[in-house]
Amino acid sequence: MALHLGDDAPNFKALTTEGEIDFYEYLGDSWGVLFSHPADFTPVCTTELGRTALLNEEFAKRNVKVLAVSVDSLDKHKQWVSDINETQHCSVDFPIIADEDRKVATLYDMIHPNASATFTVRSLFIIGPDKKLKLYITYPASTGRNFVEVLRVIDSLQLTAKHSVATPADWKHGEDVIVVPAVSTEDAIKKFPKGVKVMKPYLRYTPEP
Ligand code: BEZ
Repeated sequence: MALHLGDDAPNFKALTTEGEIDFYEYLGDSWGVLFSHPADFTPVCTTELGRTALLNEEFAKRNVKVLAVSVDSLDKHKQWVSDINETQHCSVDFPIIADEDRKVATLYDMIHPNASATFTVRSLFIIGPDKKLKLYITYPASTGRNFVEVLRVIDSLQLTAKHSVATPADWKHGEDVIVVPAVSTEDAIKKFPKGVKVMKPYLRYTPEP
């Protein structure tokens, strides 16, 4: 089943390196990042999981719980985690699902048969506290993901969930944001006391609220 933005993130129970989990219980009221990688003991995946572990404080600051998945076994995951910790100078502290029966991969459409009949591609889903899908990206096996970009999108999602703003191209936390078209300039001036810069009637900036 193809998933789309705004859909409910499918719940599941799974065996992980941290024991059996129910996805929704694991997330609780937090935001979530669920990401798949093709296989254990592969170089790009090793750097991706290491990078994610090194960013654990950044994810925690944003109230985000991380969960990785691949179709390898729990034994393999556990052996591989010690390699990741050694080579990436980190301590992997998030669960990795052993999705040997491809239950999670199938629920989240992470196997793209024309890329690989058996392995998951690099899919990544951001899930809101309402358990809805807020973003998904899919990278090929040969390209490691940019986890700073993942944090940047989370910053944007969390900000735009609270305020009537959108974030422009390449926006980073602390930079000006865009007033959404649904808010009139008159209302925007009242709503955003830090000021509204009108470039065009449809293009209005305000400092990050
Ligand atoms: C990797 O993670 O290094 C990788 C996995 C599958 C194909 C190519 C690279």
